[in-house]
Amino acid sequence: MEQRGEPVVQKGFTLWLTGLSGAGKTTIAHILEKKMKQMRFKVELLDGDAIRSNLSPDLGFSKQDRMVNIKRVAFIAKLLTRNNVIVIASLISPYNDIRSYCRAEIGDYIEVFVKCPLDVLIKRDTKGLYEKAMAGEIANFTGISDPYEEPLNPEITVATDREPPEQSAEKILQWLKQKNYIR
Ligand code: ADX
Repeated sequence: MEQRGEPVVQKGFTLWLTGLSGAGKTTIAHILEKKMKQMRFKVELLDGDAIRSNLSPDLGFSKQDRMVNIKRVAFIAKLLTRNNVIVIASLISPYNDIRSYCRAEIGDYIEVFVKCPLDVLIKRDTKGLYEKAMAGEIANFTGISDPYEEPLNPEITVATDREPPEQSAEKILQWLKQKNYIR
């Protein structure tokens, strides 16, 4: 079968977006997905909310359940990455040990810290979850009643309280170009 256009030569990698709920991970992930598709790369988005409704509906938010959830995503990311797909994983993934596991498991793993101060997120509260969590209506809520361990050595950090998501996405793309992950 004839292919349409030139096939894009591509090596797989996983962009792992970590950060608090509401920090902008999903928005940035969607912008990156769209731009990379326009550049004709094969891209898959593994987003926390979609993963939880499709792949992990059995899991809650205890440390144990989060570990299982994140390991499932790491497993899929590994399979896709080794088949030269670009994976954009967007999960809170709040623990350093689980992120180290993902890095080791996936190999071509690029960690992006989507950073936003908690007080800004509480003010924004786009999903209304922080208000509920502070009222004690959601148990183990990251940043309120559950820990978020900031990444120790992320490849990229984007400060979403200081720049719009388009700018964060552009910064990530520039980094990928500089390091020859994409051309
Ligand atoms: S993770 O910790 O396992 O990586 P994940 O990214 O899948 O989390 O899911 C986070 C999303 O679940 C949040 O954006 C929020 O919408 C929702 N959520 C529901 N309960 C919680 C909770 N207790 N802590 C954090 N997020 C929660």
